Amino acid sequence: MTWLGLDNKVVVVTGGAGGIGRACLAAFHEAGAKVVALDRNPDTANTLMAEMDPTGQTALAYDCDIGQPESVAMAASFVEENLGGADVVINNAGILRPAPLSEVTDDDWNDLLNINLSGSLRVAKAFCPQMVAKGKGAIVQIASIAGSHPQPASGAYSASKAAALMMVRQLAYEWGPKGIRTNSISPGLVMTPLSAAFYADAKVKEARENMVPSRRIGDPDDMANTAVFLASDRAGYINGQDITIDGGLSQALMGLVPRPGY
Ligand SMILES: NC(=O)c1ccc[n+]([C@@H]2O[C@H](COP(=O)([O-])OP(=O)(O)OC[C@H]3O[C@@H](n4cnc5c(N)ncnc54)[C@H](O)[C@@H]3O)[C@@H](O)[C@H]2O)c1
Repeated sequence: MTWLGLDNKVVVVTGGAGGIGRACLAAFHEAGAKVVALDRNPDTANTLMAEMDPTGQTALAYDCDIGQPESVAMAASFVEENLGGADVVINNAGILRPAPLSEVTDDDWNDLLNINLSGSLRVAKAFCPQMVAKGKGAIVQIASIAGSHPQPASGAYSASKAAALMMVRQLAYEWGPKGIRTNSISPGLVMTPLSAAFYADAKVKEARENMVPSRRIGDPDDMANTAVFLASDRAGYINGQDITIDGGLSQALMGLVPRPGY
């Protein structure tokens, strides 16, 4: 067995065409796993997977909208038929609909919760029987520090991530006896297509970097490395936990408080 024990495991990553998703796919593939990118952007997902494995044996893509129950059910069947079922699910797909709660529309609120929260549960439920059939499994939810820390214009997003964090703990409790471990990662600031607009202005980027004790913006690989560990046998007794990966940003609150004389 290799150190991580992920050789030939089947790993499904939602939102696999995006920044953190593609980093997860690459990291699991490098660790010896067979990977499947589920995304509603199939062109990019197909291109990425073909680059990873031109033979199409160990890296596959499937057009899936996690907001649609039938689409998720079809994706689960695809993984079962082509790779014999999933061992690991990375619930990563997510969207932003920036607006203060006082202005968020019902449609935006419902769309966002349908993808960031309900979509994650839908995916977990669809792949649960496959992991049970294999005797064990692991789910890693990509949450956010926004789920624990309010921020401007982030109402629906923050609420969805807070609920996802609780869903992870609930799944850990309910599915632990089935051999499925469920944990989450709460990224801080990460440079991806989702957040690219925040970094278009170099001054904003620098100001953000200076707020982080580690003095840099996170890289998708920072998240992927932890996802690989949490899904691996090395984390075999970790269940229902959240790991914050933010370079220390969430510990920097007291640095904002003026302290004359110090
Ligand atoms: N980038 C950050 O700073 C940051 C910080 C904290 C948390 N996160 C979380 O990390 C996760 C990944 O974010 P990212 O920054 O890589 O975003 P991204 O926009 O680069 O990638 C998201 C991917 O999800 C896909 N997607 C969206 N809705 C989908 C749906 N209904 N069905 C299937 N696929 C769908 C998109 O097509 C895209 O490929 C998200 O859950 C996000 O909330 C990101």
